[in-house]
Formats: sequence, C-alpha cells, structure tokens
Amino acid sequence: MDLVSADLKLRSFLKEDADALVKLCNNINIWRNIRDALPHPYQLSDAHNFIQLATSKTPQEIFAIDKKNELVGCIGIHPQDDVYRFSAEIGYWIGEPYWGQGLATAALQLIINYGFETLGMSKLYAGCFEFNKASQKVLVKAGFRREAILKKAVFKNDSFYDEIRYAIFRDDDENKRWAKTLVIGQI
Ligand SMILES: CC(C)(COP(=O)(O)OP(=O)(O)OC[C@H]1O[C@@H](n2cnc3c(N)ncnc32)[C@H](O)[C@@H]1OP(=O)(O)O)[C@@H](O)C(=O)NCCC(=O)NCCS
Repeated sequence: MDLVSADLKLRSFLKEDADALVKLCNNINIWRNIRDALPHPYQLSDAHNFIQLATSKTPQEIFAIDKKNELVGCIGIHPQDDVYRFSAEIGYWIGEPYWGQGLATAALQLIINYGFETLGMSKLYAGCFEFNKASQKVLVKAGFRREAILKKAVFKNDSFYDEIRYAIFRDDDENKRWAKTLVIGQI
C-alpha cells in the first residue's frame, strides 16, 4: 500500500531497496538512537532479511519512506495485543544525508492518519532515548505529547538511559483537526 502526501510517499519495501538500505542504515548515528535489533555494522544480508520481514505482514506495518523515487528512511507502526490492542508503537529513522528537511515529521503525519483511519487504533506512541532531542522535537511537531518517563529502562551502548514516551490519541481535538487537512492518498 502507498500512503501519499504532498511531501513524500510511504510505500512497501522492494528487493531493489537493499543497496540503498545498507548505505543509509550502516551508520552509527542511526544505531545510537535505535534498539539493538538494528545490527551494526549493517550488511547486505541484514537488508535482505529486513525487506523479507517488512513485506510479510498484513495489514502492512513497515513502510519505506520515499522522496522523489529515492529511499530516504523507514517508518513502522506496530499494533499491540490483548488489552493493548487499540494502541500501536511507532518507530522510524531517516538517512543522515536527509536530516533536517522535515521528512520525519511528514512521514509521521502519514502514519498517524493510517494508524487512526485505516488500522482503527485509538492511541499511537513512541519511545525516545533521553538524549535524542531531534526525535522528541519531531514527535511534538507531529502532534504527540510527552506522557511518561520510564526511568533507566534503556540499556544502550553500555549505559542506562531513561526512555521518554510520547503519545497521540485519536479523540484529541487537535489531531482530528489536522487529520482532515492532511493531503493523503491511499493506493
Ligand atoms: C530523529 C530523526 C528521525 C529526525 O529526522 P528529520 O527528518 O531530520 O526530522 P525533521 O527534519 O522532521 O525535524 C527535526 C527537528 O529536530 C530539530 N533538531 C535536530 N537536532 C536537534 C537537537 N540536537 N536538539 C534539538 N532539536 C534538534 C530540528 O531543528 C528540527 O526541528 P525544526 O523543524 O523545528 O527546526 C533523524 O535524525 C534520525 O533518523 N535519527 C536517528 C534515528 C532515530 O533517532 N530514530 C527515532 C528513534 S525514537
């Protein structure tokens, strides 16, 4: 499925993305801010495995972020189960050459719309490591609000850190407002 706005497109990963994925993902500045499930160094076999995983889920949970037919990043939305089944966790990264162009914010706006309108979620949330100020800024720009601090929940790179949780709710007035104004196509 493609989710399209004026700024970019979220689409399914393709086998042909593997080389570009390695180029963008094999970067310590991305790894530092992401869970250890992301291998480092990041090799071609990792890219192939990831693309296989990313294309295996229905409904779709993992999208390539595409700007002018170029892979620039990745965003995932993961519905939880049991009593948490109306909540979904969001995770994302943008390749370093493309930082600071508003791409993460634009991708989040599309995934929020998909999470609420297509997946029927009532709450979306994301957790940032305490030092990741750029991601915290992006979430606030996209309409999320800080909701909790999970003290020393993260063990990354041999140290403990707080995780800062951000959330957005379908029934928020503010969210309903911009969900309507968002230019979106689902193909
Ligand atoms: C976090 C990340 C996704 C941001 O992507 P991006 O496309 O550059 O984000 P945007 O351009 O939409 O917005 C970035 C905002 O953060 C701000 N910012 C960047 N570095 C910052 C810092 N160190 N402190 C505070 N704000 C910062 C930018 O100025 C911008 O805000 P502005 O538009 O008000 O100027 C990208 O840096 C990334 O992939 N990092 C590594 C992986 C990661 O952190 N993933 C998220 C895990 S929770």
